[in-house]
Amino acid sequence: MATDQVQIFDTTLRDGEQVPGCKLDTKNKLIIAERLDLLGVDIIEAGFPISSPGDFHSVEEIAKLVKNATVCGLTRSVKKDIEVAADALKHAKRPRIHTGIGTSDSHIKYKFNSTREKIIERAVAAVTYAKTFVEDVEFYAEDAGRTDNEFLARVCEAVVKAGATVLNIPDTTGYCLPEEYGAKIKYLKENVTGIDKATLSCHCHNDLGLATANSIAGIINGARQIECTINGIGERAGNTSLEEVVMIMRQHPTLKLDTNINSKLLYDTSRLVSESMGMMVQPNKAVVGANAFAHSSGIHQDGVIKNRETYEIMNPHDVGVTESAIVLTARSGRAALAYRAKNVGFELDKLQLDKVYQEFLKFADLQKEISDNDIPKIIEAAKL
Ligand code: KIV
Ligand code: ZN
Repeated sequence: MATDQVQIFDTTLRDGEQVPGCKLDTKNKLIIAERLDLLGVDIIEAGFPISSPGDFHSVEEIAKLVKNATVCGLTRSVKKDIEVAADALKHAKRPRIHTGIGTSDSHIKYKFNSTREKIIERAVAAVTYAKTFVEDVEFYAEDAGRTDNEFLARVCEAVVKAGATVLNIPDTTGYCLPEEYGAKIKYLKENVTGIDKATLSCHCHNDLGLATANSIAGIINGARQIECTINGIGERAGNTSLEEVVMIMRQHPTLKLDTNINSKLLYDTSRLVSESMGMMVQPNKAVVGANAFAHSSGIHQDGVIKNRETYEIMNPHDVGVTESAIVLTARSGRAALAYRAKNVGFELDKLQLDKVYQEFLKFADLQKEISDNDIPKIIEAAKL
């Protein structure tokens, strides 16, 4: 079976930028958009043009700048939103309008004070109107995660008929279990007439820490686009993390799914977004966290020094990390100490190592981590 391509739809500059205190100016957005294009994302959601003149300007400038990716603007199912998004995207080589409406009973009742039938009418009208400006129209069924599957299928069928090219199935509240989300995608694949004319897209939030697992369940069941952000940033607990889904596909060739992402740029892109937004990456973050390739317990260090694959399922070079780190702490063993001492120019024989190790433990009990600068002092204290 040939490998299928999964489109990466990056929403760092739209859903990601909704993080309180992380607002970016146009200049920083342009730097990030250029990097995302270089990284190989297929679609850049550049913003929500109607939301503010600043956002309109950013989307317009990104549309002018981006060379390869499709540039997308978000709208509600509101005519004015769609007109403004079309205007902001007019210079894009590949423009996409992303329009939609809430479809769960709770959204229909409390947000819109409406009915299921009227929601379908509004969805179809929005897609039809967006199609008068651009060919590529993505429809989102907000809160699809809590929307009854039968109704969701009816909405999807109606908007595909109206010309939607992509069907976004957001788990807006991050509520679904992976099995449930995967089954939803499967249900739509099997029950929406005309589904072959559109791409199903996963847009999973991380409120219960399941965004990545849900997105993977989605693509296993037939979705071919994932909406995600660098470092998984986004409102509340965030969005699906781009680097995680990309590396899951790379590291599991049996899935027979891959992306256009140049994974060697992941680490630098993660740092760029983190620094621009002033939002630190948690050290234990999968793939791009400072500790993702750092080993500190003696047993693990001994294994990694003998063969990296004993405790690493990814090559750090593949994500742009120069090398695995052997961190010296009071939990480290002789193998790690010998390895780090050799790196700074001290080749120790077995007897010497035993002596230096005793001194090392005294130092390590006093400080959290032993640096390269401490090693000569420890060796001196061992009086070899
Ligand atoms: O989470 C969500 O439902 C969204 C839509 C606006 C696409 O971000
Ligand atoms: Zn979202």
